[in-house]
Amino acid sequence: MNPLHAKSYADQAVQRTVEIVENARLAKDTYRVRFKAPEIARRIVPGQFLMLRITDLNDPLIGRPLALYDTVVEADGRPEAVDVVYLVKGKLTSRLWQMQAGQRVDVWGPLGNGFCQEPGTRGQEPGARNSTTHHSPLTTHSYPPIPTEHLIMVAGGIGQTPFLALAQEALHRKRYGEPPRDMPRARRVTLCYGARTAEYLACVEDFQRLGVEIRLATDDGSLGHHGLVTDLLQQCLAEHHGRPHIVCCGPEPMMAAAAKIAHEARIPCQVSLETPMACGVGICFTCVAKIRQPDGSWDYKRTCVDGPVFDAELVEW
Ligand SMILES: Cc1cc2nc3c(=O)[nH]c(=O)nc-3n(C[C@H](O)[C@H](O)[C@H](O)COP(=O)(O)OP(=O)(O)OC[C@H]3O[C@@H](n4cnc5c(N)ncnc54)[C@H](O)[C@@H]3O)c2cc1C
Ligand code: FES
Repeated sequence: MNPLHAKSYADQAVQRTVEIVENARLAKDTYRVRFKAPEIARRIVPGQFLMLRITDLNDPLIGRPLALYDTVVEADGRPEAVDVVYLVKGKLTSRLWQMQAGQRVDVWGPLGNGFCQEPGTRGQEPGARNSTTHHSPLTTHSYPPIPTEHLIMVAGGIGQTPFLALAQEALHRKRYGEPPRDMPRARRVTLCYGARTAEYLACVEDFQRLGVEIRLATDDGSLGHHGLVTDLLQQCLAEHHGRPHIVCCGPEPMMAAAAKIAHEARIPCQVSLETPMACGVGICFTCVAKIRQPDGSWDYKRTCVDGPVFDAELVEW
């Protein structure tokens, strides 16, 4: 087998220079940028990301990965624009927040695998579902499907961003992908979300509007549980019965802790890794993570084309 074989080559990605439609402040150092990119909007699925750089700016030269927050759909049902939510952190984001409607950014995507729904259903013709001869990037996807009972989303820091679209899909409010894909309806969706202080908590109302059950934690106790978001996960698992499925995104120690809880409770868990990336399309190997192999050894896998979503059981933390 080709050692560079990856589950999710950037074969659906396009690169476009697009105009910012709006760039709105949501919380402390946190903004939502919207840009018109119909080709990306209609293909992208929850958990996928795009790379973004500022047009005509050489510092930073390379793009930065940002997760899909949501797509914006026109009155006639066509996805037209993409929303991305970002925390102001370093070179790119501290310029991006100052940009106005009408200014331009370069984006390429959709990239990565996204959260697994049913294995092998992304981007396939309806009749091709479960076909073993269809070489869709996700045909070899081996993660457990997200079940219909209880989807628990665990987010730390800016890790809530990939979950709004996933919640929309799980609650049958919206479909994503080309052709639009179906996912089993979740009976309950919970967001366990932790941040440093209350002023960093962003997007909570968007999840509330969907009917997602919200549990908040802050490091300083300024809102919600005074402590770790993984405490909320443990409470949630203790209170609810049924078949949960965990998805997790945030700082690595938090994801490692959530993965351990999931492992001990024998609950499937997918993590969306936030490794730094340079190209986003599988060329540079900047983004590697240690992923366990079927024989028990581990190998470096490129988060941009083999992830960013991995079965938590396979990650060497
Ligand atoms: C698949 C994926 C999706 C992401 N989605 C989002 C999102 O939706 N919203 C969001 O705000 N951020 C997201 N990130 C993280 C974001 O890409 C980085 O924080 C990015 O570095 C910000 O760019 P910058 O130029 O502002 O900061 P930089 O100048 O690149 O970095 C600032 C500081 O952070 C460090 N750093 C850079 N990248 C990372 C990283 N991934 N983890 C830990 N430290 C890092 C640098 O070493 C430096 O110290 C995502 C990352 C990945 C891989
Ligand atoms: S970012 Fe270049 S290979 Fe993943």
